[in-house]
Amino acid sequence: MKLYIRLLRYLKPHLSSFVPAVICMALLAVTSSLSLTTIVPITQLIFEQSSADTTIVDHHYEFSIKDLSRFDKRAVMRVIGGDTKYQQLAHVCVLIIIVFFVKNLFLYGQSYFTVKVEQGVIRDFRDEIYRKYHQLPLSFFHGRKAGELISRVTNDVTLVRGAVGYGLADLIKNLFLFIFYLALALWASWRMALAALIVFPPSLFLITLLGRKLRVNSIRTQEKMASVTTVLQETVSGIRVVKAFCMENFEISRFRKFAHDYYRTMVKLTRISAFGAPLTELLGVLAGALILWYGGRQIISGGSLTTSTFLLFILAAFSMMDPIKKLSQANMEIQQGLAAAGRLFEIIDSPPTIIDKPNAIVISTVNKSIKYEKVCFDYGKHEFRLQDIDFELCKGQILALVGPSGGGKSTIVDLLPRFYDPTSGRITIDGIDIRDLTLNSLRSIMGIVTQETILFNDTIANNIAYGQADADMDKIIEVARTAFADEFIMKMPHGYDTIIGDRGVKLSGGQKQRLAIARALFKDPPILIFDEATSALDTESEILIQKAIDNLLSGRTVIVIAHRLSTIRGAGQILVVNNGRIVERGTHADLLNQNGLYKKLHDIQFNESR
Ligand SMILES: Nc1ncnc2c1ncn2[C@@H]1O[C@H](COP(=O)(O)OP(=O)(O)O)[C@@H](O)[C@H]1O
Ligand SMILES: [Mg+2]
Repeated sequence: MKLYIRLLRYLKPHLSSFVPAVICMALLAVTSSLSLTTIVPITQLIFEQSSADTTIVDHHYEFSIKDLSRFDKRAVMRVIGGDTKYQQLAHVCVLIIIVFFVKNLFLYGQSYFTVKVEQGVIRDFRDEIYRKYHQLPLSFFHGRKAGELISRVTNDVTLVRGAVGYGLADLIKNLFLFIFYLALALWASWRMALAALIVFPPSLFLITLLGRKLRVNSIRTQEKMASVTTVLQETVSGIRVVKAFCMENFEISRFRKFAHDYYRTMVKLTRISAFGAPLTELLGVLAGALILWYGGRQIISGGSLTTSTFLLFILAAFSMMDPIKKLSQANMEIQQGLAAAGRLFEIIDSPPTIIDKPNAIVISTVNKSIKYEKVCFDYGKHEFRLQDIDFELCKGQILALVGPSGGGKSTIVDLLPRFYDPTSGRITIDGIDIRDLTLNSLRSIMGIVTQETILFNDTIANNIAYGQADADMDKIIEVARTAFADEFIMKMPHGYDTIIGDRGVKLSGGQKQRLAIARALFKDPPILIFDEATSALDTESEILIQKAIDNLLSGRTVIVIAHRLSTIRGAGQILVVNNGRIVERGTHADLLNQNGLYKKLHDIQFNESR
């Protein structure tokens, strides 16, 4: 219930559509029951009087509402008007057309406004979750599968409309219809109407029972759908590996398994929800038959009931069944929507651990130095731990991190843009703890080039000027030249306007790397971080990229993580990182003299290259 109240708050911005929708529903219920009442004059005209020319309108008769409540024949005819039966019949026909026209007008209005509400809420949810994804720390994404996160925004969100859109609309609409039909039935014959209500408690019980079962199963189907999306996403992004390892059949059967799981839970879900409507209808018919038996006997034996009253009652009573049936269906839809909403709120409620403090400081450059002070960090339950990382990098200097892979080099530099926060110790820029800076300004003063270059499905120019619309083309070309990318870009079919595929599949590793460097250059940040930006490359492109990097370095504060020690010889300070600790530090010459890990790594590479 709490969940539902929270979900209903999402309707607030859409009240301007929701209120008209509800009004339309109410008027729809009124006109629907009104359309049923036309049966009364019809039967009276056709069945209850024999001669065609008798007028049944008493001109001295004064119409009053009280007569309507007694179901006075004359009162009904007074409303219809007309002097002869033929005239009255014509009037009734026109009335029917009008009533049904108006009713369908409201039906349309109701659907129109409901769709506006439900799609509006879906849009808001998508926006909110997508925005949320951007606020959540990296660790949130590492703990979850990409496909699942995608599934939340695509599949789960659409299910929410069951609870705020059509499901809710069905609930309100059918509640109105039920009330008006009930009123009509009560009006026709309150005794029989009360008898008909016997159906209500058992169907209500049934509805709640099924609803509970449904929600559990609905969550299950959503999880299965997420698995399907995950496999799909993994295959699409890893298609090269799948093909290289001839894993097509494995992936196909993996996908089939999840798809089949989804199929099974979905069938089960539908089986449960399909139970509701027939069951309530059966109960209804049971009550209906009972009433028919009782009322029919009254008429046959010439009791107090007139045919038209009885017909009206039967119509109203049977029309009542439909809303009851739909109510159970609406309940199912709402339960499904709630299940989805629960999954969405889980994401919305995940704490964005890395956020700006109030009164966070805006930084624009480094004036003195970047300093790590006794920084410790771990990834949570994993064994790896950074311990007591301590160093100072002065403005304009180059710091190199080297060491065996898995030692923690990337982790150290990931702390600087606050992809993660240290568990203890602190990192300062010009003496200010980076947690006191705004995230935006902190990240905007650094350019990061990693081994894994992420390019977007856009033109080359836009990839270089990522995040900057209407960038100066001359500047793009200039940075591309500096990054030695201009030459291969010009060979592309549309030059800088060539669209590169998702993740840049149409480019070689070295080309992508050079684009990434151009991108960092374009951003022109005072701090540059290279995390093995060259290690995946052949020697020739590495030399090119090394030159590109050298072009970049002048006047900047730089952290380089390098696999090949030849690329960092010139660094002012080299830290050797192993098992989460800094085990050696100094210049190239210092470290060779120390005869430790650095020397060992250096010797291995030196022998390699000989
Ligand atoms: N997101 C993560 N979650 C848990 N452990 C991680 C994560 N990223 C890296 N690690 C672990 O941290 C250790 C250091 O990794 P990393 O900093 O990438 O090393 P390096 O860059 O020196 O090769 C490794 O043991 C790795 O398994
Ligand atoms: Mg690394």
